[in-house]
Amino acid sequence: MRVIDLIQIKRDKDEFSREEIDFFLQGYTRGEIPDYQASALLMAVFFSGLSDAELVDWTESMSAMTPQMDLGDLDGKKIGKHSTGGVGDKTSLIVGPLVAAAGITVPMIVGRGLAHAGGTLDKLESIPGFNARLSPKEFKAVLRNAGVAMTGQTEELVPADKKLASLRNASGTGESIPLIASSILSKKLAEGVEGMVVDVKTGSGALTEKMADSRRLAQSLVTIAKRMNKKVVSVITDMDQPLGNAVGNALEVMEAVEAMRGGGPTDLVELSLELAARMIAMAQPDRTVESAKDQAFKLLSDGSALKKFRQLIEMQGGDPSAVDHFEQLPNASAEFAISSPRAGYISRICADDIGQAAVLMGAGREKLDSEIDLAVGIVLEHKIGDRIQAGERLCSIYYNEETHLEEATQMVEDAFHISSVPPETRPLIYEVLQ
Ligand code: URA
Repeated sequence: MRVIDLIQIKRDKDEFSREEIDFFLQGYTRGEIPDYQASALLMAVFFSGLSDAELVDWTESMSAMTPQMDLGDLDGKKIGKHSTGGVGDKTSLIVGPLVAAAGITVPMIVGRGLAHAGGTLDKLESIPGFNARLSPKEFKAVLRNAGVAMTGQTEELVPADKKLASLRNASGTGESIPLIASSILSKKLAEGVEGMVVDVKTGSGALTEKMADSRRLAQSLVTIAKRMNKKVVSVITDMDQPLGNAVGNALEVMEAVEAMRGGGPTDLVELSLELAARMIAMAQPDRTVESAKDQAFKLLSDGSALKKFRQLIEMQGGDPSAVDHFEQLPNASAEFAISSPRAGYISRICADDIGQAAVLMGAGREKLDSEIDLAVGIVLEHKIGDRIQAGERLCSIYYNEETHLEEATQMVEDAFHISSVPPETRPLIYEVLQ
């Protein structure tokens, strides 16, 4: 078999066989296929797509390269959570411990931030000592004790996704719907979960900006998972403005902790409760989502989720006292406030621009191996719909290096749109597909 033939098959909109998919994915992961041919093949997939049958094969092939986690001897149902990614999306930090506090096992293989969207793995690494590269054995030990574990992809856990994530980012194929679906589902197969809730973002800060694309992705996740005997609930949610107020790794950990202390921004708390409730209801099908949400609310308010988060940090080598002493997390050395040029209502906060500005200041990476600054980011003081006065603070940029401050400031100023009339309210949760 030759890679050039596979590129031509997909370029000409023909279908791959399982053997051809295995040949490509295994060869690329082992380093036998060069990036330039792999990029061409991914671009052909971007334009020609994958049929449902091909997508099942592609997903299973990615996941089958290493043994799936056998969680059969652990108590309780095993339910996964994933997000397609967005700006300020720190729900995994809250939802994982929260659902574990309800007695459900939550294995989480998480990723790094790419382009303007943050990644749970980077956020976790802002906690001193936290080890986010667990072996399958260590991962299972944490799960057994804490009920939740979080690790990045490794050579032993979906290595194909690790390599493809980087190549997709560099080759302009990150937005391909079948490549997103297979990336997510291959990790969930490897985790050994029975079902999962996927937060499919839509809007300027999402991989799928248009609702029609988000809906196609959400449906594809449900359909492909069903073919693999897994249950998926896809929740399509807003990513046209950042989620919560904080954007940037340590800043987002602080905000997630605040939410687990019973505070935190309303949109972040509401979405976390919705996702957690859907996971609890999936594990306990005789329950309604409303009753599961009541339970999730109680576990968040009474400190049970935070207790689980502390346990998770400790089991993964981190210092749980950082949760009580934010000065132990990376903190930026300087702050620059951005104020509103006029009075009015905030009608738009372009999530993409806020995310790009945070990346410019060092919070995110353009390439998977770029160094990032875990301390820096942006904290919003207002959200869409708020009425503000001229000169009132809109947000602050927290930074260590001044080099890109001017450019980032311009981007943030452009991200805020002020109008004289109140904007129409946008829903936080658009649709649920299952
Ligand atoms: N999350 C993933 O794991 N993969 C993607 O491609 C997008 C979001």
